[in-house]
Amino acid sequence: MNEEPTIVTLFTEEEIAERVQELAAEITEDYAGKNPLLVGILKGAWMFLADLTRAITIPHQCDFIRVSSYGSGTESTGEVRLLTDLSTPIRGRHVILIEDIVDTGHTLATLLNILKEREPASLAVCSLLDKPERREVAVHIDYLGFTVPNKFVVGYGLDWDERFRHLPYIGYLEFEG
Ligand code: IMP
Repeated sequence: MNEEPTIVTLFTEEEIAERVQELAAEITEDYAGKNPLLVGILKGAWMFLADLTRAITIPHQCDFIRVSSYGSGTESTGEVRLLTDLSTPIRGRHVILIEDIVDTGHTLATLLNILKEREPASLAVCSLLDKPERREVAVHIDYLGFTVPNKFVVGYGLDWDERFRHLPYIGYLEFEG
């Protein structure tokens, strides 16, 4: 499909900023005294994590993990590969996985299994978006920003074949005809 899509706004920059502040406040309260490690899943979660970390007012650290992405389409293969591992040991740490969107659930389910084996003190999930209609594997989301319809969404870190990641708002792609 060579056609240029239009982007229909779902959440404005202001709405995202407000929700991120609320999530950060919850995490700040729940993790007081626990020095949590926020693990951003690259690439999609970097913008979300950058805003979240600045709004969390208790001491914490950030690290990143990178997994294989969809390639150049909008469909998941269901196969998840670890491309870049954490630089921090997590044994005994309170870990919060930071995800951009939970779609089929394969990415999170795989990562949770990998990280659980390293025996963190606790392991939670914070996802900006959830697309529950597409779920294939059950995963629990402890902190959720917004639920989205079954559409391909872009912006605020989320891409379509590496495009539209930089947008400060979130929208879905619409193709004519
Ligand atoms: P899952 O493994 O199917 O849950 O997919 C998770 C990953 O797929 C997310 O971290 C995103 O990188 C990507 N993804 C899933 N849905 C979308 C979407 O609508 N827009 C952009 N990326 C998506």
